[in-house]
Amino acid sequence: VQREMSSLPRVYITRQIPPEGLKILSESGQVQFDLWDSDDVPVPRKELLQKVKGVDALVCVLTEKIDAELLDAAGPNLRVLSTMSVGFDHLSLEELKKSILLQLCVCVGIRVGYTPDVLTDSVAELTVALLLSTSRRLIEATHEAKTGGWGTWRTLWLCGYELANSTVGILGLGRIGVAIAERLKPFKVKKFIYTDVAPRPELASLIDAEYVSMDELASQSDFLTVCCALTPETKDICNKDLFSKMKNTSIFINTSRGGVVHQEDLYEALSSGQIAGAGLDVTVPEPLPISHPLFTLNNCVILPHIASASYSTRNAMSALAANNLLLGLKGQPMIKELKL
Ligand code: DGY
Repeated sequence: VQREMSSLPRVYITRQIPPEGLKILSESGQVQFDLWDSDDVPVPRKELLQKVKGVDALVCVLTEKIDAELLDAAGPNLRVLSTMSVGFDHLSLEELKKSILLQLCVCVGIRVGYTPDVLTDSVAELTVALLLSTSRRLIEATHEAKTGGWGTWRTLWLCGYELANSTVGILGLGRIGVAIAERLKPFKVKKFIYTDVAPRPELASLIDAEYVSMDELASQSDFLTVCCALTPETKDICNKDLFSKMKNTSIFINTSRGGVVHQEDLYEALSSGQIAGAGLDVTVPEPLPISHPLFTLNNCVILPHIASASYSTRNAMSALAANNLLLGLKGQPMIKELKL
């Protein structure tokens, strides 16, 4: 039995992932795995570099940088990487592509699985919750109620902005942007607009959204929600230039990646009243230090990157990451594979 075990592909899992994924891997009988048995702290880099030596496959989450150093440490056996995330900005695609070229002589490169779709509902739901918490000032309101700020009923106290009759702008229209718009529509939104590198008519037709320029998105949106991936092109795309074109009454929401926002410019826009409020589920860095100036602002609601955090979604992500990995190791198409 021991000999059989030792001939199975070796997998390292960088986190104690939710049970469904672990169950799939253990019951498959196709792999032997070792894991960083904690969900509270990420595996220390030194330990990770040690543990990946000689592995055939790796399951990671978004806290692990998969770069040249890690690929070097893993060595030539590594052929499958499966991230339990839809975002892949923690993976150095350039280095992964290089690995394909280097290994061309044996016709294999590292294949990469990720977990889109299964988290769309959860992320869209949280985005709506964050948008409403920000625009209707729910966090400030509960704080006032609990700390003695609740005096008499006042005519303009804690007033915010409503979705009815508004224009909602989506920066980066994909599955998640569509799912957000579908949920917002019943709130009587007047118009959906979006921008992207090019029009996306098929997705846009699902929500009757109009393609506009970045400038128009900024100037027309009452609510601007960021749904694009973080890439070198989108880094800091939400900056002074964008905020300065937004209405003083508009609300900015980001549930994609912190890196798409120039945070100093956002602080400036919020503290000067250039825009009315911001709801962020993602920041740079994560966790955002409690001394960060954004935490001093009443008109900024900050969540600790929880958009996909529902039990069912996190289990589905874990299961998909496990299945991607097993299929990749068998040389079969993964359920969700990144084209490098
Ligand atoms: C992802 O999957 O990329 C999210 O940010 C976390 O679920």
